Amino acid sequence: MLPTHVTLVEVGPRDGLQNEAAPVSTAQKIELIHRLQAAGCREIEATSFVSPKWVPQMADGAAVMAGIERQAGVRYSVLTPNMKGLEAALATRPDEVVVFGAASEAFSQKNINCSIEESIERFRPVVAAAHEAGVKVRAAISCALGCPYQGEVSPDEVERVAVLMKAIGVDHCGVADTIGVGTPRRARAALERALKHFPLHEVSGHFHDTYGQALANILACLEMGVHVFDTSIAGLGGCPYAKGATGNVATEDVVFMLRGMGIETGIDLDALVDAGGYISGVLGRAPVSRAGKALLAKRGQAA
Ligand code: HMG
Ligand code: MG
Repeated sequence: MLPTHVTLVEVGPRDGLQNEAAPVSTAQKIELIHRLQAAGCREIEATSFVSPKWVPQMADGAAVMAGIERQAGVRYSVLTPNMKGLEAALATRPDEVVVFGAASEAFSQKNINCSIEESIERFRPVVAAAHEAGVKVRAAISCALGCPYQGEVSPDEVERVAVLMKAIGVDHCGVADTIGVGTPRRARAALERALKHFPLHEVSGHFHDTYGQALANILACLEMGVHVFDTSIAGLGGCPYAKGATGNVATEDVVFMLRGMGIETGIDLDALVDAGGYISGVLGRAPVSRAGKALLAKRGQAA
């Protein structure tokens, strides 16, 4: 049973830009968010409240949040790894915050400088304070399908973290293939474990496309009824602490596939392609999105 409607969480302004070495200006980040919401994106991961020493590109998170002209019906989320991040984030009135842990010990240490267990203890007060402020909390479980330092990661390890996240009260569980090594059966096996502890509408897939498997993984998850996915405009993305991790699955590619399948996203593909063209221009390169490139080329031929 395929869903008739899919919610895409646009993570380009955060996951997409965090790995960019050259600074992208605050105004350009805000312009990207404006273009994404004009294209119909209703869930936008806008920025992170992390250490600027660890991720310099996200140092202007508060300014980005302050500069967005918020559109009714659009929800803005931000990453908050600890109380310091949450306090700074809450001042900017996000609709949702994201705590990000990992199914692999080695990656947890590299990315957030603590063990999985320590991370859960850091997240506990973050979840409580976010809820007290009326803000929803999403959890991301990184390296759910493989780890750049540890190699194989089993569904048991994913479930262990899902259970810990559930116990501290997170509302939503995102299962993330940080380095894009997952294939459809493995993607399903990981999401099935999250679904044992969270309802269907509170489980999502976050697939980096490093090995070209992301669309196949999304299709496999759609066939399970999963209908929330993170995607990134122009296929931008990568984690600075995951060696070899390249972009997320491109929003344009996912919208093209879903549209072809008759599944609604509420997103206007042409406007999305424009947004992808805009940010790719800012970064000085062609969009990684296959659909984005093809549609831009077709426009060029028509002109
Ligand atoms: P730490 O060094 O262990 O933290 O870092 P600390 O509490 O010891 O503090 C050290 C310094 O950082 C202090 O400053 C703090 O004030 C400051 P100093 O006294 O040295 O000047 N600090 C902060 N500053 C701003 N905002 C904060 C904050 N916290 C501490 N929130 C920490 C721990 C988590 C902060 C650090 O490891 C960090 O920032 N990591 C960021 C990792 C990150 O952003 N990774 C990318 C996002 S995750 C991702 O991409 C995966 C995902 O897409 C899913 C997937 O694909 O897998 C979500
Ligand atoms: Mg990611």
